[in-house]
Amino acid sequence: MPADSILKYIFAFCLVLSLSAAATSARAESGSLSRDPTEPASSRNGMVVSEDKIATLVGLSVLKEGGNAVDAAVAMGFALAVTYPRAGNLGGGGFMLVHLGGTGKTVAIDYREKAPLKATRRMFLDENGNVDIERSRHSVYSCGVPGTVAGLSLALEKYGTIPLGRAVATAIKLAEEGFAVSAELRKSLLEAKERMKKSSESMDVFFKNNGEPPRKGKILRQKNLAWSLKEIGRNGPLAFYRGAIAKKITAYMEKTGGLITKRDLASYQAVIREPVTGSYRGYKILSMPPPSSGGVHLIEMLNILENYPLSQYGHNSTRYAHVLSETMKLAYADRSEHLGDPDFSPVPTEQLISKQYAKRLANRINPAKATPSKYIKPGSPIPGQGTNTTHFTVADRFGNVVSNTYTLNFSYGSGLAVPGTGILLNNEMDDFSAKPGTPNAYGLIGGEKNSIAPGKRMLSSMTPTIVLKDEEPFLATGSPGGSRIITSVLQVILNVIDHKMSIREAVAAPRIHHQWLPDTLYVEKEAGEGLAAALRKKGYEVKRTGPIGSTQSVTRVNGFFHGAADSRHPGGLAQGY
Ligand code: GLY
Repeated sequence: MPADSILKYIFAFCLVLSLSAAATSARAESGSLSRDPTEPASSRNGMVVSEDKIATLVGLSVLKEGGNAVDAAVAMGFALAVTYPRAGNLGGGGFMLVHLGGTGKTVAIDYREKAPLKATRRMFLDENGNVDIERSRHSVYSCGVPGTVAGLSLALEKYGTIPLGRAVATAIKLAEEGFAVSAELRKSLLEAKERMKKSSESMDVFFKNNGEPPRKGKILRQKNLAWSLKEIGRNGPLAFYRGAIAKKITAYMEKTGGLITKRDLASYQAVIREPVTGSYRGYKILSMPPPSSGGVHLIEMLNILENYPLSQYGHNSTRYAHVLSETMKLAYADRSEHLGDPDFSPVPTEQLISKQYAKRLANRINPAKATPSKYIKPGSPIPGQGTNTTHFTVADRFGNVVSNTYTLNFSYGSGLAVPGTGILLNNEMDDFSAKPGTPNAYGLIGGEKNSIAPGKRMLSSMTPTIVLKDEEPFLATGSPGGSRIITSVLQVILNVIDHKMSIREAVAAPRIHHQWLPDTLYVEKEAGEGLAAALRKKGYEVKRTGPIGSTQSVTRVNGFFHGAADSRHPGGLAQGY
């Protein structure tokens, strides 16, 4: 991208940022009930929604300059690695769903991390056969072989229109010249500091002011990350997988005893897969297939719920929440047994998403009371969530739609950054089932199909989704939130289709979550004590909780795009033009 264009982008950011800052911060700081959508973002030409307003404006600039949704999404993917480092990344992985306006086809790009070739099934077990959480979540062994650079590059090469150099240019500028730190970024850094202390690179980048993260409003520059992005811009993904960046990653692994080798990086490939496809009350649902569990269980749950007149029950009525919770339990129980990397063992996707199977499951739901989850493991916590993955959605005037979720797993991943690169490494290896039957960080139980094996992709819950009406894109959404991703996406779809909410209402409405084990129903506080009490009477152990998910969504109705950034997470922005 020519220098004058870059300057134009930055000028445009500042202008739009200053114009929208008041509204955005009012949204961000407003309490729960001002989740009520009073400020619809709608437009005819395109819409960009993300958890980070700078990234949204990066995407919007690309669209305005004539780029398509894939160009914008890739530019955003690189920009988020700079401006939203807790989850935006080069050292992680994710999934991108692309609907192509030209052909009407939808493709799923799998750029999930892989286990290094030296990984072993029992690598996270201690001498007593118990899972060593420190090792699986916070050590150099927790890092999977990153997929993001391969995934974004593949998307651009296949479906984009601009060169990679141009797609990374704004990210380079943001890394080199810096951007103003938000209160939220500072807070997330303070929370992650203990985990990042082990990494001199992380400390140099984020805590160089006497061990303090930059104050709100200070400019954060990331010179080493700018170097990495320039390498990618100049030499393409090869820079990361075989070139100068690969050398630094392998040197770091050799020095620390980590498992990722030159061969792991050189052999990594993003994969284009067929989306998993279903239908719900006449709409077509397209979502991420395995190695994400998201799409399969989203469709499984929608199929079960199709057997109930949900709109008659009313949104978040006791009867509605009960049917939803029982449905969630049934799907997550299946997840623990049947899902894993399809390149290693077959996943019975067709059976799990069949309407017939869903009918059988629906018949097992007792309308009067909760059915206890069978295998309760007391003390399986679901940690605070919502900040550890990120989703963005882009729709353009050519009919293309991108729904992308990517992650480092935890906030700032393993906390470890590769010296000289500014690249934070994921701790995605914890998403494998280190010991079948033992919960991972999200309290999720995995089975044999998700055991560790060299070169295998760990199971995910990421659920980037596109819904078509009469074969045209109608709704696109996705969310961070670990195990709660799938149920968050489910409820946005139900709110729009069954409860006829606008996208902003659908995103704002209080959510519930059940994942079979632990046998606890999580109900957002905003749903009210009345609903919690009624569900307790039905036999649920109810926990009232803070935000569930942070969905970033777009609908297209009567030719207009409507965007909604989830106000559960401060700092997001939906912007169209
Ligand atoms: N790391 C969370 C997920 O992929 O589901």
